[in-house]
Amino acid sequence: MRVTRRAARNMSFDLVLFGGTGDLAWRKLMPALFQAFRHGKLPAGGRILAVARDERTDTDYRGFIRQKFADVEPSKQPNDEEFTRFAELLQYMRMDLSQPEHYAGLKAWLDARAADTVVLFLATSPHLFTQICAQLGAAGINGPQVRVVLEKPLGHDLASAQEINRVVSASFTESQALRIDHYLGKPAVQNLSALRFGNALFEPLWRRESIANVQITLAESLGVGTRGDFYDRTGALRDMIQNHALQLLTMIAMEPPSTSDADAIRDEKLKVLKSLRPFTAETVVRDVVRGQYKAGTVAGEPVPGYLEEQKVPAGSRTETFVALRTEIQNWRWAGVPFYLRTGKRLAARDAQIVLNFRPVPHPIFPGASRPNKLVIKLQPEDGLELHLLAAKGAGNNELLVPVKLDLDFDKAFATERVGAYEKLLLDAIAGRLNLFVRSDEQEQAWRWVEPILDAWESSPEGPRPYAAGSWGPPASSAMVARDGCVWDEEQ
Ligand code: BG6
Repeated sequence: MRVTRRAARNMSFDLVLFGGTGDLAWRKLMPALFQAFRHGKLPAGGRILAVARDERTDTDYRGFIRQKFADVEPSKQPNDEEFTRFAELLQYMRMDLSQPEHYAGLKAWLDARAADTVVLFLATSPHLFTQICAQLGAAGINGPQVRVVLEKPLGHDLASAQEINRVVSASFTESQALRIDHYLGKPAVQNLSALRFGNALFEPLWRRESIANVQITLAESLGVGTRGDFYDRTGALRDMIQNHALQLLTMIAMEPPSTSDADAIRDEKLKVLKSLRPFTAETVVRDVVRGQYKAGTVAGEPVPGYLEEQKVPAGSRTETFVALRTEIQNWRWAGVPFYLRTGKRLAARDAQIVLNFRPVPHPIFPGASRPNKLVIKLQPEDGLELHLLAAKGAGNNELLVPVKLDLDFDKAFATERVGAYEKLLLDAIAGRLNLFVRSDEQEQAWRWVEPILDAWESSPEGPRPYAAGSWGPPASSAMVARDGCVWDEEQ
């Protein structure tokens, strides 16, 4: 059931956080819930129940979270008074996730007050998803007010994703199952929808006749940190391309939906995924570059290579960088290259989408002409840049110089912007599904990346080395250069 914003602020809710002591819970979810609380957006009458394996009291758990807030950026840390009020929402329950009687205990806790909304957030290791969903179903923890939120990675290939979806759908309907891709909660991504479907300006240009290529870059300067074991089983393709990068691509390439309803949007996104040119063993070699970082320098500091990171097995062939070229086989986009790129330990933390326009058909001004481009910046800043050419001034009118129209959303909107997890948690509580990924989208994304995984597995060659602090292996630039393009930071 979808509820209005005003009603959402007054509804009682129970949010059950499986994996309540895990990394995701304290790094992202608790800070996001606290921000929602601080902004007065968390509906009054909520309870947050953290579930984990070990024995703790509510007081212990609150102390644990309090101490973890020390790692959050200072402006997002609660003061003592704020934390005391926020902590009143927090409770803790020990559960062995394999034990039916522990789910019976949870059901009793939920039934005792029958909240308007129950959100079951699975922030555990994904190998537990099927067990938890099956046990929740068996315990009868269900009803129209219940939603289950699944955090990525949702499977490690198509078959495992389908298995998770099969078990989830045995207990919950599609509209109860909310698959998170936190990139969809980023303000810049919501602004991308606004830009495309709230304004008429760009629509006539948003097509093959005007756009030369599209580049999506999700670059991180950090390495794998302490997550070496998880990352080594995952790699950049599964960690960032199958989900975040493809979701951004669908938002750029989709046709205008007929309404703003979740399924109208998701139907259009699915069509894009189905229109992506499938990879073959040959095109993987030509159009996909994988890399792995070696020791290097990031922000002036020496950093180790991937193989020297904690918990990374010796000789690992896991990729920490992927760049690929694809096309969308439909009338709007035929022939336009879409380049996707992501990596750890790159030169900067920089996430952006660049639409490079075609050059003017007949240049009349002397000097090099430079095609227009639109840059949608996701982070570190969140904004839009439209790159144009302009005449600089008197006497030199014919010499054009590059200029840009620059919209910084943080400056444009005086109020503090809502972070990705804050937005998605509030949407989950209110039952707004637009920003969650449907099972068919997710499976189609796996279907598309699988030939890449297969080709890599059977290839004698491993990932190409790149120095930490660079923009990845030189083969990535060579791949776009084949089309006469350069990555945006090289322009
Ligand atoms: C996660 C990946 O989904 O996204 C991480 O598992 C990655 O490896 C993170 O670091 C990046 O998210 P953000 O919001 O910091 O760009």
